[in-house]
Amino acid sequence: MQKAMKVKLARLIMSLSMAMPMLSAQAEVTGAALAQQGAPSVPACLSCHGARGEGLAAAGFPRLAGQPAAYLEKQLRAFAGGQRVNPQMQGVASALDDSQIRAVAAYYGKLPGWQAAPSANPAAANPAVAAPEAWKRGQKLAIRGNWNKEIPACFACHGPAGAGVAPHFPALSGQPAAYTRSQLKAWQSGTRTHDPQGLMKSVALRMSPAEIDAVSAYLANPLPMSREER
Ligand code: HEC
Ligand code: HEC
Repeated sequence: MQKAMKVKLARLIMSLSMAMPMLSAQAEVTGAALAQQGAPSVPACLSCHGARGEGLAAAGFPRLAGQPAAYLEKQLRAFAGGQRVNPQMQGVASALDDSQIRAVAAYYGKLPGWQAAPSANPAAANPAVAAPEAWKRGQKLAIRGNWNKEIPACFACHGPAGAGVAPHFPALSGQPAAYTRSQLKAWQSGTRTHDPQGLMKSVALRMSPAEIDAVSAYLANPLPMSREER
């Protein structure tokens, strides 16, 4: 390589490496601003997903904090593209451009997840279990599955304690029961598609309404969990 060329290349690499942290700092600002204030055509995410991305259990709005950023990005693109149907989120996601999607997903991905901040989740903060039988049945499905019906353990894919496995498997624990239920039903009815290799569709199709209710109740409030149940 000629000397002039080498110098040029070195300069380029240097300017790039200086630009990179600036770019990511800019993305962080954008992500936080979108979440907290929104943008001209984008409502602030916190109005539905909570000030710390903890969700709104009473309304069945999901927690976003601590979910894998790649998973959140994928969902935003799916709402915009119609592979996942939800009137509220379709409007929001369609109003975001590509760099905003990446920024806001990165922002929520970095916030403490359910395990790091259990008290941030209203569902998890309340240890009262309304229907202990259903909760127990849900616990069994989550941890062991139901092999008579070829339903694998949820935690086999979603990680121990349902805490999620980046980048593809979202956390399930600490989500509002109404939200988990609605997603399993969405796979059954075909309004949520695009899961890798149809993995979730095939799981959801094997589940009865009672099993869906049970596992949703358990996942909203998976504590207490004894050591041998993990
Ligand atoms: C008007 C209320 C509302 C606003 C504002 C809102 N969301 Fe949502 N969001 C929802 C609802 C409801 C769902 C659940 C949709 C479903 O059932 O499929 C959801 C789901 C999501 C999901 C999927 C989560 C998962 O676990 O799969 C993501 C990602 C998301 N929202 C991101 C955002 C971002 C980013 C913003 C701000 C730019 C935002 N939302 C603003 C109501 C809202
Ligand atoms: C074979 C692996 C696998 C198993 C087993 C599995 N899941 Fe999933 N699940 C996935 C994948 C992959 C996704 C992400 C789909 C996507 O990209 O939209 C997912 C997503 C979900 C979501 C959406 C979460 C959200 O934030 O919107 C729910 C709810 C869910 N799974 C519930 C369950 C339950 C309940 C069980 C057990 C009965 C279970 N899963 C078992 C792979 C699995």
